[in-house]
Amino acid sequence: MQRFESSVALITGGSRGIGLAIARRLVDEGARVVITGRSQESLDAAVAELGVDEAGVPHATGIAGKADDAEHRAAVFAHIAECHGRLDHLVNNAGINPAYGPALEIEASVIRKILEVNVVAALEWTRSAVEAGLTRSIVNLSSISAVSAAPGIAFYGVSKAALMNLTVQLAHELAPGIRVNAVAPAVVKTAFARALYEGREAEVAAEYPLQRLGVPDDVAGPVAFLLSEDAAWITGQTILIDGGASLRPIG
Ligand SMILES: NC(=O)c1ccc[n+]([C@@H]2O[C@H](COP(=O)([O-])OP(=O)(O)OC[C@H]3O[C@@H](n4cnc5c(N)ncnc54)[C@H](OP(=O)(O)O)[C@@H]3O)[C@@H](O)[C@H]2O)c1
Repeated sequence: MQRFESSVALITGGSRGIGLAIARRLVDEGARVVITGRSQESLDAAVAELGVDEAGVPHATGIAGKADDAEHRAAVFAHIAECHGRLDHLVNNAGINPAYGPALEIEASVIRKILEVNVVAALEWTRSAVEAGLTRSIVNLSSISAVSAAPGIAFYGVSKAALMNLTVQLAHELAPGIRVNAVAPAVVKTAFARALYEGREAEVAAEYPLQRLGVPDDVAGPVAFLLSEDAAWITGQTILIDGGASLRPIG
């Protein structure tokens, strides 16, 4: 399938984990991608992994910066304007969870930082993308913690619930031209989630009806679907990608 032939996609936090899997999937289907992250070294490794076309032109470029830094955002959109002259898809993938513990014990400054990166920055990337002439679709990376109790990572869950609702609001505002959807994964094996399963993967996986944890490609496929014209009549929705964790059978 070449659903993204001639299209350009911007993926925040695309140097590893879920973001890199999404980048790989879109490149495999014909896209050029621009990826971001804080470490230029990691981005360079990801760009090398994403390869070059027949003419030797890299499929990806990587621009380093923090997702909540306005100057970094401006640099990314200047690069897109200069090198591509178009933008078709945005994936708001960069997200943080710098605190672990009960909600009542999280410091207000940490709460603000989580909301700044996971919610406000997603809105800012979207605003800039729309101003840059975004043509087709957006996917936001929410989390299953948005719709269930998330012991230890409660405020992360609050931020992802806000992002899920922002998806609905933006889908309504940006229709009919641009579709906006989200995905909400349970535990996916990446550096970000390692503390949730390291040393007890079998035990955690046993809680999932599908009896395993997620891998980044489990998320990349549904994200590619939502970005593509296969989802042309879907907007404002969040797909749970959770190995059945949300089924919660009674009895
Ligand atoms: N893994 C899971 O179980 C899971 C479940 C539900 C939702 N999610 C969501 O999925 C998204 C991706 O998570 P992941 O598991 O793939 O994480 P990951 O493997 O740690 O990758 C995170 C990516 O984002 C970049 N990044 C981190 N903080 C950033 C910041 N402040 N500004 C810019 N880039 C930043 C990282 O590069 P640098 O470190 O170089 O900046 C990296 O490229 C996040 O929004 C996360 O909340 C993950």
